[in-house]
Amino acid sequence: MSMYAANFMAGRVALVTGGTGGIGSAVCEALAQAGARVVSADLAIAGNAQADEGIERIALDVTSAAQVRACVDDVVARHGRLDILVNVAGIVSVGNAQDLPEAEWDRVVDINLKGTFLCCQAVIATMKQQKFGRIVNIGSVLGKNGGNARPWVNPHEQDRAGNVAYGVSKAGVHIMTSYLARELASSGVTVNAVAPGPVASAMTTSFPEALRALIPVGRMGQATEIASAVLFLASPESGFVTGETLDVNGGLWSD
Ligand SMILES: NC(=O)c1ccc[n+]([C@@H]2O[C@H](COP(=O)([O-])OP(=O)(O)OC[C@H]3O[C@@H](n4cnc5c(N)ncnc54)[C@H](O)[C@@H]3O)[C@@H](O)[C@H]2O)c1
Repeated sequence: MSMYAANFMAGRVALVTGGTGGIGSAVCEALAQAGARVVSADLAIAGNAQADEGIERIALDVTSAAQVRACVDDVVARHGRLDILVNVAGIVSVGNAQDLPEAEWDRVVDINLKGTFLCCQAVIATMKQQKFGRIVNIGSVLGKNGGNARPWVNPHEQDRAGNVAYGVSKAGVHIMTSYLARELASSGVTVNAVAPGPVASAMTTSFPEALRALIPVGRMGQATEIASAVLFLASPESGFVTGETLDVNGGLWSD
């Protein structure tokens, strides 16, 4: 049940990267339910464009500038516009600074940070020309807080369990959001981010109770709760909000 009028996104065209993942699929559904035409682009999609329950699915690797450009051109050619870009594609990574392989740093920064930048860059001309656009990036609490405490991990293994590359990539997403917001503010294009805390998903069902206890609301987030925050920032009504990174983390961290 949405708090907005039915079909308030009618006529809007949205591109969601990482659209087949836990958070990405909740974002696609929320936008589609609000009446937007939604294109879900993900590395995990094989073959040619397909449509399913009103959501189009296309294959995309966000680390390839050529693929990103072709994907955006295709959406604009077929739908005539592109109003909303939600950058959800990302990977998690574990490893402390002392032992982190260079290749792992490159992989995480390439997908989470460069991939998000390439997608933002590719929609700028179209959104400026429309004098309307909503870009929403997915960051993370780990891009703000220097990593979560891990009380369940053996003290001498605490460092090994860090995720410096992931946190740095997401901090990069947050500051990139501020830069792009400033650059595009006079064109009717807003750029914001959502920084989720731990979200319940297939990957996190076995999350230790000890972390859950660190979350003040006492539970993990739901993908639909991240999608609700995205829906607000993607809506025409949020035009005076730009450059914001919105914490959606159950009180785990605030700044
Ligand atoms: N789940 C959480 O607790 C949590 C918390 C904070 C932030 N996040 C962020 O939210 C986003 C989504 O997370 P999720 O939990 O839904 O994970 P997920 O693994 O379910 O979804 C990520 C999606 O990104 C896609 N992807 C990966 N590399 C890609 C590439 N190169 N090109 C295109 N698509 C690619 C994957 O195929 C997958 O469908 C990520 O950016 C993640 O860092 C998640």
